[in-house]
Amino acid sequence: MEIPELQTLCPSPARDRVEIVDQTRLPHARVTVSLASGADAAHAIRAMQVRGAPLIGATAAYGLALVLRADPSDAGLAAGYALLLATRPTAVNLRWALDRVRARATPLAPAARAAAAWDEADAIAAEDVATNRALGEHGVQIIEELAAARQPVQILTHCNAGALATLGWGTATAPIYLAHAAGIPLHVWVSETRPRLQGARLTAWELRAQGVPHTLVVDAAGAALMRQRRVDLVLVGADRVTRNGDVCNKIGTYEKALAARDNDVPMYAAVPSPTIDWTLASGDDVPIEERDSGEVLNLGGEPIAPVGTVVANPAFDVTPGHLFTGLITERGVCAASNAGLTGLFPERAHG
Ligand code: MRU
Repeated sequence: MEIPELQTLCPSPARDRVEIVDQTRLPHARVTVSLASGADAAHAIRAMQVRGAPLIGATAAYGLALVLRADPSDAGLAAGYALLLATRPTAVNLRWALDRVRARATPLAPAARAAAAWDEADAIAAEDVATNRALGEHGVQIIEELAAARQPVQILTHCNAGALATLGWGTATAPIYLAHAAGIPLHVWVSETRPRLQGARLTAWELRAQGVPHTLVVDAAGAALMRQRRVDLVLVGADRVTRNGDVCNKIGTYEKALAARDNDVPMYAAVPSPTIDWTLASGDDVPIEERDSGEVLNLGGEPIAPVGTVVANPAFDVTPGHLFTGLITERGVCAASNAGLTGLFPERAHG
């Protein structure tokens, strides 16, 4: 699915910078930003110019390679790792990618570290595309089965777990794009996703670029649509899945899961394996990012609440695994449980 306008990150052949699409400017402006240092990469992640668990991981990997280009010493490696790891706490792909690059670079002579780190970042980026495609192949079967009962298949999604959040295909969108390409009639309800509006700004934009029929709704509309039998499937992404199958994703996902269960609507999370945190026993252990109150207090640059209003702005929530029908991974579909996950990843049966 080579859609140029959806290419989120482009490493330079000279290996001295990466070009990203500034997602804070979408959908109304497609602005590219050049990241030439670890600090640039860290800023891009913190400020959400790049966002989405897989893309955060890949950007951090290239960021650490850029750090080693400037200072390949042990101290440089450690400082770069710490700088990038501290950007956002919830998406585990960040730590996963940094650990991979650090493990690759550490045994090497300093002079060889930057090139090896860049190779590892390239591998992480290429694997992401292949993983999402494989995940999509498993997920499209769920849509095909639903299409046998009703067409168009009505899918509700929350936030952006699309091509813009990855290096290609997206996670939750991969089955949607494959089904659409296969000619299966479908329609997507796009939950706007306050406060940063990833659904309204990003998911609607890329579904339009792909020609997939969709309708934008406010976050609170999802439950009513399910009760009205206007949703056949809820499909979301994930930022961290724990050993017991709990799913941490964008704030508002848990509410969707409660509504889906109450209305017998199947709900799946698309989970590429780098998003599984085998070190955590349950979702209660996931660090939840609390973001700036300004994101809630302002809309389109305009203040919406009285001056001095106290705000809480958790960016993610945890949905217990038992509320999911299943998890879609690149190895197949499983129950959102430890038995389900280790069934597909037996090498992880012991953490
Ligand atoms: O705050 P964001 O935009 O980084 O949150 C993104 C999400 O919650 C996505 O659903 C998740 O990262 C999966 S992206 C394939």
